[in-house]
Order: sequence, then structure tokens, then C-alpha cells
Amino acid sequence: MQWYRSKLCFVIGLALFFFLSNFSFIVFAQTEQDYLLLGNEFVKTKRPQVKFYHDKHNQLARIEDNCVLCHHIYRDGKIIEDESSEDQKCVDCHKIKDKVLNLQDAYHKLCKGCHLKQHKGPILCGECHKKYNK
Ligand code: HEC
Ligand code: HEC
Ligand code: HEC
Ligand code: HEC
Repeated sequence: MQWYRSKLCFVIGLALFFFLSNFSFIVFAQTEQDYLLLGNEFVKTKRPQVKFYHDKHNQLARIEDNCVLCHHIYRDGKIIEDESSEDQKCVDCHKIKDKVLNLQDAYHKLCKGCHLKQHKGPILCGECHKKYNK
């Protein structure tokens, strides 16, 4: 009887372990998404959409305190240092069909422009537009 009970405990424990670890795996997988998939607003994309690891990228590039570099508000052609547009999307101001600085050009100028200037970060098409399985 003693033997039977400890074996039963073991089996239940094992089942519980797998149930919980499986469960926590699901929770982890859900909170794990630490990137933004950029470019959802393009109706049809020619290139794979860019996965942007927002926080990781900005730490690596040492611009995590400089939100307005990307989330800018311009006045008289200058970025206002203490006003952020982080609650807006790029496409709110840079439309897909704009003649000057449309969305695609805005992204390329911002992202690639800085990488070129700093000689750091990807500048080849396939380095940003990576193929991946959805
Ligand atoms: C290198 C450029 C860059 C920097 C620096 C940057 N961001 Fe972003 N951020 C982006 C881009 C690109 C998006 C996606 C915009 C879009 O979808 O139109 C984004 C999206 C966001 C979003 C919306 C997230 C979501 O889930 O939709 C928030 C909030 C945000 N950023 C806050 C910040 C804050 C706060 C900082 C500074 C601590 C910051 N960002 C610095 C580029 C940047
Ligand atoms: C609230 C509106 C607004 C939002 C949101 C916004 N921009 Fe802009 N952006 C502007 C304005 C206005 C200018 C200045 C255009 C000019 O000089 O005539 C500008 C300029 C730029 C420039 C040119 C900078 C230069 O030095 O020439 C780039 C590149 C750019 N934006 C990219 C982006 C990207 C990428 C996003 C999203 C992360 C974004 N912008 C979000 C309004 C916005
Ligand atoms: C102000 C400068 C600056 C801007 C703006 C910028 N980057 Fe970067 N980026 C860097 C630097 C610097 C690195 C290299 C960091 C390192 O490895 O030291 C980098 C690295 C990267 C990398 C490789 C590392 C990683 O996070 O996977 C990718 C991908 C990348 N950038 C994409 C982007 C995209 C997409 C945008 C526009 C939404 C962008 N960057 C805007 C400076 C910038
Ligand atoms: C530094 C990163 C970066 C590099 C390098 C880069 N792009 Fe992009 N590109 C972006 C981002 C960010 C967007 C807007 C969001 C998206 O489409 O995922 C974009 C958008 C586009 C779009 C519009 C959306 C679509 O897929 O139809 C095209 C086309 C494009 N890029 C082609 C290219 C080509 C061709 C090259 C090489 C000459 C290139 N890009 C290099 C970051 C990059």
C-alpha cells in the first residue's frame, strides 16, 4: 500500500509537472514577442516585412533614451526635443503615396540612413527584409 501510494504520487506529480511546464511554455511563448513586425500598412509587400527588435535594437545602438530620433515632432524644420510621437504610427504622417518622403522612403532614410552614417547596422536589403516562416 505504501509502495502503491508513493508510485501514485509520483505519477500525479509527473503529470502535474508536464501540465505546468507546458502551460508556462505557452505563457512564455505569448509574452516572448519582443519585436514589432513593421509595414503592416503596405497592402502588398514586395519584400518580407522587417522584424524590428525595438528595445534590444535601441539598447545596442545606444539610443534608448532618444525616442524623438524616430518618434519625432517637427516644428519649423526642427525636431522638438521634449515632444514625442510614440503614440502615433509613422504612416500617420508619412503616407504610402506621399510625393515627398512616403512611408517606404521614410523608413529607409531613417533606418538605413543612420546605419550608413554610423558605419554600423545592416544596409543590405536582405539583412533587414529577412525571409522567415510566419
Ligand atoms: C530607431 C528608431 C526608434 C527609437 C529610437 C524608438 N522607437 Fe519606438 N518605434 C519605432 C518604430 C519604427 C515603431 C513602429 C512604428 C509604426 O508601426 O508605425 C515603434 C513603435 C513604438 C511604440 C508602439 C509599440 C506597439 O506595440 O505598437 C511605442 C509605444 C514606442 N515605439 C515607444 C518608444 C519609446 C518610449 C522610445 C524611447 C525610449 C522609443 N520608442 C524609441 C522606432 C523607434
Ligand atoms: C507626427 C507626425 C510624424 C510622425 C509620427 C513621424 N514623422 Fe517623420 N517627419 C515628420 C515631419 C513633419 C518631418 C519633417 C519633414 C520636412 O522636413 O519637411 C519628418 C521627417 C522625417 C524624416 C527626414 C529626416 C531628415 O533628417 O531628413 C525621416 C527619415 C522620417 N521623418 C521618418 C519617420 C519614421 C520612420 C517614423 C516612424 C518611426 C516617423 N518619421 C514618424 C512627421 C512625422
Ligand atoms: C540613430 C541611429 C539608428 C537608427 C535610426 C536605426 N538604427 Fe538600426 N542600428 C543602429 C546601430 C548603431 C546598430 C548596431 C548596433 C550594434 O550592434 O552595436 C544597429 C543595428 C541594427 C540591426 C542589427 C541588430 C538587431 O537589432 O538585430 C538591425 C536589424 C537594425 N539596426 C534595424 C533598424 C531598423 C529597421 C531601423 C528603423 C526602424 C533602424 N535600425 C534604425 C543605429 C540605428
Ligand atoms: C535598415 C533596414 C532596411 C534596409 C537595409 C532595407 N530596407 Fe526596405 N524597408 C525597411 C523597413 C523598416 C520598411 C517598412 C516596413 C516593412 O516593409 O517591413 C521597408 C520597406 C520597403 C519596401 C516597401 C514595402 C514592400 O515590401 O513592398 C520595399 C519595396 C523595400 N523596403 C525594398 C528594399 C530594397 C530593395 C532594399 C535594398 C536596396 C531595402 N529595402 C533595404 C527597412 C530596410
